[in-house]
Amino acid sequence: MQLSLTQPSSWILLLLLVTSLLLWKNVASVPMCAMRNTRCFTFFEDTFELAGSLSHNISIEVSELSTEIENHYAHVPGLKDKSLMRCHTSSLPNPENKEQAKHTHYEALLKSGHMFLEAWESPLDHLVKEISTMKNVPGTILSKAKDIKLKIEALQKGVNSLISTMLQNADEERNYPAWSRLPLLQSDSEDARIRSFYSTISCLDNDFKKVDIYLNVLKCYLLKQENC
Ligand SMILES: *[C@@H]1O[C@H](CO)[C@@H](O)[C@H](O)[C@H]1NC(C)=O
Repeated sequence: MQLSLTQPSSWILLLLLVTSLLLWKNVASVPMCAMRNTRCFTFFEDTFELAGSLSHNISIEVSELSTEIENHYAHVPGLKDKSLMRCHTSSLPNPENKEQAKHTHYEALLKSGHMFLEAWESPLDHLVKEISTMKNVPGTILSKAKDIKLKIEALQKGVNSLISTMLQNADEERNYPAWSRLPLLQSDSEDARIRSFYSTISCLDNDFKKVDIYLNVLKCYLLKQENC
């Protein structure tokens, strides 16, 4: 499906994108500070607030999308067959839950969040293109997937700016998991494509629950908030 500006949903998407980008742009234009032992300044506060809120919202939206796919495609055999699900990010060494995240150094936590975001960039791009060409995908599912992609891009910008401000060797060689094209999405069998779509969204769901935790634990600790 082409993004046509005659459709109201496209305007909303565009508006969302522009709003997200503007938010980050404003954040980036605030004078930055170096990370010191003491409490830090505006740039970090604003950026962490935004990143925490945005990652939480994305996590909720991905779960909703996953449920919508489950309901709409309940008739597809083997839809929830876990043995078919393999996440391309599963080899990443990352804190599994909030307790582990709390005991992880802030640099490692930020890098983990960053790594997930980078690892999903091209798969998501690909996924949205592929499902746009699939027949009979409900509009709500398609628009949610596109919205999630835009929000993740905005979050990535924010986290990139945090990484380059806070971490010393931000440009050190990156070793993100390779992502080959989604072979099943190109399968001739409609059911196989739907299973692959669902499985990818399930992985995204798992990963974004973690990103949500990491960024909110970071926010809470670095901004010295209570009840982290
Ligand atoms: C997250 O969602 C809440 C509730 O809908 C909204 O008020 C908030 O602005 C959203 N955060 C971001 C960064 O978009």
